Amino acid sequence: MIQPSGDSVGIDDLSVYIPKLFLPTAGEFSFARDIDPAKLTKGIGIEQMAVPDGHEDAATMAAMSLLELMKRNEIAPEEIGKIYIGTESAVDEAKAMGTYVIGMLEKIFGQGSFQDCSTVEFKSACIGTTLALESLSYWAAAEDDGRVGVVVASDIARYPFRSSGEYTQGAGSVSLLVKRRPRLLSLEPDFGSFTKDENDFFRPPGAATAVVNGKHSNLCYLNAVTGAFDAFAKKALWRGTISLKEGECPVDHITHLLFHIPYPRMVEYASAALFRHCWKGLPRWKVIEAEIGTEPQPSDYPSFDNFSLAEADFAKSFARTRLFQEEFKAKVRDTTLISRRVGNIYTGSIYLGLASLLELRKLLPTERVCFCAYGSGCSSLVFSGIVQREAGSLPPMNIERSLDGRTQILLEEYERIHEGQMEKGILPPSREFALVSIDDQGYRHYDYLE
Ligand code: HMG
Repeated sequence: MIQPSGDSVGIDDLSVYIPKLFLPTAGEFSFARDIDPAKLTKGIGIEQMAVPDGHEDAATMAAMSLLELMKRNEIAPEEIGKIYIGTESAVDEAKAMGTYVIGMLEKIFGQGSFQDCSTVEFKSACIGTTLALESLSYWAAAEDDGRVGVVVASDIARYPFRSSGEYTQGAGSVSLLVKRRPRLLSLEPDFGSFTKDENDFFRPPGAATAVVNGKHSNLCYLNAVTGAFDAFAKKALWRGTISLKEGECPVDHITHLLFHIPYPRMVEYASAALFRHCWKGLPRWKVIEAEIGTEPQPSDYPSFDNFSLAEADFAKSFARTRLFQEEFKAKVRDTTLISRRVGNIYTGSIYLGLASLLELRKLLPTERVCFCAYGSGCSSLVFSGIVQREAGSLPPMNIERSLDGRTQILLEEYERIHEGQMEKGILPPSREFALVSIDDQGYRHYDYLE
């Protein structure tokens, strides 16, 4: 985003918090669920699921990633004007999670230190954090008192035992520092959206786990992301953010494509759908047709079901073409590095993709990064940013090293945590925020435990 003064606004830095416990998908879990482990590690793409300990919830994880962001950047509480939290794992039906988070941080920085900071919770399934980022970037562009904003994603993905969503579970939090003259990514002005009422995934009041219509949710995701990308491209072309030469399409002007990552294979399906959509009608489509034939048309099949099968086959063939594979490897594949070892963290997943690129040192100045966010229900928001010269100077987060240091738990321990039967937890809290008790009124008491 460009201010009239010429200042850009965007993501200056980020921090990631992942719980210290994990359960591998292959081994005890796949055996107990009678699933071929290769389906989970390759077909779905998740090797390890992050599991929150008994003393953790979405608020403690949010406080952990925010504390880390403040430490990394030596930010004092009075320098933060707004904390917007994207979550679908609310700990209260009315009280904003950010007030609990501020309460926790004030145990470190002193009571009242965040008094002149406002906070609000954004709920819109996995797209909540992205909508929070969009809003906060407008605030950062308008505010001129020098303060920064923080967007925090924090979620625990929980599905019923033995459901098709169970092996995509994960937990974690990502905090994004949003300010003028960012060191990492300057946001461009074009935001493309897509919204439609869908029943792909939801969690009615009181339910501990999500209701999911799995295959339908994949289709909703692909449809929404393609629709939002079209809206984004239309604006970017109209404004001149992207200009096309003969035979080009907008994805040619994007260096890295970040998608919401419910599980790593979904990112491959999404890229294939998007590239196919954008390449149709271009000279290179002839190369695709020479390799895999022409697209199936409904009129060539006796029924819609027959057409759907042919269409699914064509989509798989497209995903195997040389042209697609080259683009996927260059622009998308590396974004799933961390998610493979964490699982779905819902609204923060797309930013784990950004963290993956940073950890791999893949972001180079002037490159364009395009975010394709998705939230069930459903909506998508597509926008872009330009990597800044100072991006390489950000200190490494060493996320892979901290993932290596986690504790593997037993299936039986995971099942007890999942059912909320692990009040004491597995590891004693150490230098972290912990939920200490919930009183008779339902108010939650947190502390920072050394
Ligand atoms: P499923 O039944 O677990 O898996 O459903 P599948 O049968 O579709 O197989 C997946 C892949 O594994 C296939 O690959 C299989 O062939 C392969 P493909 O054919 O597509 O290339 N496979 C194997 N590979 C190697 N060795 C084997 C083997 N067997 C099979 N032995 C589904 C997948 C996503 C539906 C399920 O996991 C689910 O319900 N997940 C939860 C919902 C979800 O994640 N949806 C994603 C889109 S919606 C979204 O992203 C929003 C969300 O994050 C929530 C929010 O917004 O808040 C969920």
